[in-house]
Amino acid sequence: MANVVVVGAQWGDEGKGKIVDWLSERADVIARFQGGHNAGHTLVVDGTVYKLHALPSGVVRGGKLSVIGNGVVLDPWHLMREIETIRAQGVQISPETLMIAENTPLILPIHGELDRAREEAASTGTKIGTTGRGIGPAYEDKVGRRSVRVADLADDATLEARVDRALQHHNPLRRGLGIAPVDRDRLLADLRQIAPQVLEYAAPVWKVMNEKRRAGKRILFEGAQGALLDIDFGTYPFVTSSNVIAGQAATGVGIGPGAIDFVLGIVKAYTTRVGEGPFPTELEDADGQRLGERGHEFGTTTGRKRRCGWFDAVLVRQTCATSGVNGIALTKLDVLDGFETLRICTGYALDGEVLDYLPTAAEQQARCVPVYEEMPGWSETTEGARSWADLPANAIKYVRRVEELIQCPVAMLSTSPEREDTILVTDPFAD
Ligand code: IMP
Repeated sequence: MANVVVVGAQWGDEGKGKIVDWLSERADVIARFQGGHNAGHTLVVDGTVYKLHALPSGVVRGGKLSVIGNGVVLDPWHLMREIETIRAQGVQISPETLMIAENTPLILPIHGELDRAREEAASTGTKIGTTGRGIGPAYEDKVGRRSVRVADLADDATLEARVDRALQHHNPLRRGLGIAPVDRDRLLADLRQIAPQVLEYAAPVWKVMNEKRRAGKRILFEGAQGALLDIDFGTYPFVTSSNVIAGQAATGVGIGPGAIDFVLGIVKAYTTRVGEGPFPTELEDADGQRLGERGHEFGTTTGRKRRCGWFDAVLVRQTCATSGVNGIALTKLDVLDGFETLRICTGYALDGEVLDYLPTAAEQQARCVPVYEEMPGWSETTEGARSWADLPANAIKYVRRVEELIQCPVAMLSTSPEREDTILVTDPFAD
């Protein structure tokens, strides 16, 4: 297979960082195609921990091209700080190893301010629990045709015109929320100052990607967040503002959908969620506490405690379908070690019926009661297992049952944050 898309199959935080790093060693190009610095990918390479938010994970590996595609929204000030941090860890980053699509919309300080002001003003039940990074408002400006895009930084008259267009929209909004009008001169000065640093990396990414494809290079499309946060197929309105599902990989860099050979869904062996919104299998008891503690479930970007619950096979089956997942990477199985009994959600009871999917209406979602099947747990440790023979029989049964219920095979099994602690069934890049 030439090209692989990695997508989170739950609400994000499935452990994509390690898997993407594992795959990026085999890839020539690593491309981000949606989201922004709301993402948090942790990579452990030779004992060094790298925390990436906006940069594609390929940057930490030499000799690869990392790409930020037009489907991303980019905070240029954040990006430059992140580049400095990663450079200080000894990583080389140059225009030969990092390219940013010229048609990428920018996240400006006004987007973060609006995001946070709205969240503060929202009442319980309407708060989204965003990361506060301005992601939603930046995407709103994109579809509203008033973004400042990377290419606009190259010409001062265009930049001024774009900023004025955005402010025409933002100042009345800010007035309504009680925020002072935007300091236009300061915003322009800040943009002029950062412009040359960003433009150094700017490129017609769609063209480069198509050339790489023709040259037979292996492309890894690195998804952020998770399919249940997708703007169309997630638990709307408690979602992020981009398409997260695999189809976005093509539009998010400007390559045809035929370029995608394998979709790898990253799936945690239980379920977590940060922020507000429905979560049918959430556990607010000692079991939930235990999953959170054993799994170190705190957000990489905001440090918030993640909500934890049992594995929801209904939702993962659904996201495998909407992303056309060919195989999953199952992560964090070891967090389930020592539970006497495990539960898997196989359907939802609603109005006297059992549904095999999550209904779209929020009102119905709130009333869905999970239907569980129970499985015996295992007392042995699975941490660090590198072959099926290292796994207890009940752990194998759990994995097999997950495969059956989600109707998708396991391609990889990850048993610790270390890259070697992986059981490989199908190499997504293999021919
Ligand atoms: P936003 O993307 O900052 O607008 O936040 C919208 C929702 O997506 C909130 O529930 C966030 O907690 C969630 N979210 C955004 N990015 C991530 C991520 O990378 N991992 C997990 N949840 C995320």
